[in-house]
Amino acid sequence: MEIRPLALNDVERVGAVLGLSRLGRGDGFYLVAWEEKEPLGHAHLALTDPPELQDVSVRPEHRRRGIATALTAAAENECRARGFERLRLKVGVENEPAQVLYRGCGYVDIGIPPEHVRGTIMLRTGPLEVDDTLLTWEKQLDG
Ligand SMILES: CC(C)(COP(=O)(O)OP(=O)(O)OC[C@H]1O[C@@H](n2cnc3c(N)ncnc32)[C@H](O)[C@@H]1OP(=O)(O)O)[C@@H](O)C(=O)NCCC(=O)NCCS
Repeated sequence: MEIRPLALNDVERVGAVLGLSRLGRGDGFYLVAWEEKEPLGHAHLALTDPPELQDVSVRPEHRRRGIATALTAAAENECRARGFERLRLKVGVENEPAQVLYRGCGYVDIGIPPEHVRGTIMLRTGPLEVDDTLLTWEKQLDG
């Protein structure tokens, strides 16, 4: 498995099997996990301050192989390379698999009150109805 930033000429191939829902937001970039010519999963890294890991998604048939863990580690390395000392993410209160994943990667709740998000957000893939409560977690990155 290999992880690399999404290249322009791979957008079609990746977009056919994964959401790429934050593509075109202009605030960061996607990391994509590949096996040969097959995209397995992706994660969006928003280069805000602090940076935020978003849209971590692994194709169902490739889950529980450590791909999301590897994508998270790759995003952390991208942050370190840019001099950031922490990486933030938001996770749904009911998304147990993601919570177990991120806890295992060393992310902790930083005490920001849970955020209730409700409404329609416009994504590349079309409008998405959301009604969720999000927790904000962070990891301190060692130099
Ligand atoms: C959550 C998600 C990204 C995990 O991807 P993944 O590649 O399967 O994760 P990993 O293989 O790196 O899992 C690492 C650890 O996380 C935990 N974990 C992952 N999926 C889990 C599940 N369904 N149930 C319980 N624990 C889980 C386990 O501890 C796992 O280690 P193990 O397999 O050795 O037990 C994937 O299930 C997914 O794409 N879900 C839908 C999108 C989503 O919810 N994204 C998160 C947005 S915040």
